[in-house]
Amino acid sequence: MKLIKYFAISAALLGMAACNDDKFTDVIPMPEPTEDNGGGSTGDVVASSRDEQYRPQVHFTPAANWMNDPNGMVYADGVWHLYYQYNPMGNDWGNMSWGHATSNDLFHWQEQPVAMTPNQYGDIFSGSAIQDKDNVAGFGSGAILAFYTANGERQQQCLAYSTDGGMTYTQYEGNPIIPNTDMPDFRDPKVFYHAESGQYIMALAKGWDFSIDFWGSTNLKSWTKLSDFRVGIDRCNKGQWECPDLIKLPYKGGEKYVLIVSVNPGGPASGSGTMYFVGDFDGKNFTADELEYPAWIDGGADNYAGVTWSNATEGRSIYIGWMNNWNYAGAVPCNPWRSAMTLPRQLQLVEFNGAPVLTSQVVSELDGIAGELTAATDGVCSGGDGYEMIVKLDPSENRTFTIGNGINESVSVNVNPAAGKVILSRTSTSGNVAFHGLFSIPSMSAPYDTSADELELHIYTDHSSVEVLSSDGLTAITSLVFPNVPYDRISGVEEVSYRPLKTVW
Ligand code: FRU
Repeated sequence: MKLIKYFAISAALLGMAACNDDKFTDVIPMPEPTEDNGGGSTGDVVASSRDEQYRPQVHFTPAANWMNDPNGMVYADGVWHLYYQYNPMGNDWGNMSWGHATSNDLFHWQEQPVAMTPNQYGDIFSGSAIQDKDNVAGFGSGAILAFYTANGERQQQCLAYSTDGGMTYTQYEGNPIIPNTDMPDFRDPKVFYHAESGQYIMALAKGWDFSIDFWGSTNLKSWTKLSDFRVGIDRCNKGQWECPDLIKLPYKGGEKYVLIVSVNPGGPASGSGTMYFVGDFDGKNFTADELEYPAWIDGGADNYAGVTWSNATEGRSIYIGWMNNWNYAGAVPCNPWRSAMTLPRQLQLVEFNGAPVLTSQVVSELDGIAGELTAATDGVCSGGDGYEMIVKLDPSENRTFTIGNGINESVSVNVNPAAGKVILSRTSTSGNVAFHGLFSIPSMSAPYDTSADELELHIYTDHSSVEVLSSDGLTAITSLVFPNVPYDRISGVEEVSYRPLKTVW
């Protein structure tokens, strides 16, 4: 038994050596699997009361073990599926598999058995899923098709399908559907249907080549390269490009395409970040409008590798990100699990200062776990497992306030009209920062509308995170924090109202 695991781990490490990526070659060897770390099993759901220190109460986390990118997000037959990069055997990156959780409301998640584990082509890296309602691929109508990167000697694109509602997957016998013989980084397929050209499109990231490939298919099995997209902007090319998504959004009576690209390092705060380009897609080429790039989905340090759900209800674009950063993800002091997802957010394109800007707002399903809107006495919130705190400010006034707890641990937030930014500062006063030298970040910032009548910030606190979003969606700053006591108050603002959020576990 021990020997088999040793080989599985070595194979994973060898696989990593094939890809040109520091964060993967730096892997900490797997701990011996034990019952406590969820090891010894590649399929079972591990039990946990999910009440450990730092355990998020309103964000998704697996009961045990390491998680990174959201994968294969698809809404099918009334169920929201969230797959994710998962190590079924420990709390560090490795043995990459697709963990799986399902939900009826995007907040209450039921963890399901691990959906895919490493196979002859390698580890199961990130990718996407669609529901094949018309049986285009021939695996049955309504089958869920998962497109992922097999990370072995090379990174190649593979297809697996599920005919039992996304619970178990069969590997397509014609894998890899897009072989690769020469590229070191070639991964994270995101597939969607492009009605205008009558074909499926796959976006693929080419890491250190700083480009996104577009491939097309009419049967979901054979794929032809259409084009690639790159920009000659240094600040967009500071790190490798990963996890693309191309979405169509309404804009000013028409439609625009938004290309989402995660980049690591070179993010807005430090390390990982998620940028986007606005433009048009004609079924072959994506052309970016001339705007100021990089534009970031979120100015915080902890929103990475996010993409949107396929087939979301009411045509919404619903996004979820990995709430972490490759700079310190392996060191965050969480046990026996490591990493959470952001709150699910709806993306929209709005005009701001004459240009299209991608906005993020927490999905309205939050109402299902939120209590009554209440005025906070002295800025203190109570009765929740997490909070949505609401402050209304004068956007033309420079003002600093803190979000924290009753034992003087806090992050500070500065609304700075001269900079046109909301600036969040996470230093040693925020709680535990000692676990990694790069965790303390004095300045993470995102733009806000200085000319509005009012700036309304919605601040979502959980046991180890703070998400600062504005009501118009222009501002988004996501930050992990590790305080000794969860944040439940705001100081430095006269009027704070809040909604207590109920645990989803
Ligand atoms: C992004 C990423 C992806 C890759 C996965 C591996 O965080 O590096 O590009 O598929 O993680 O776990």
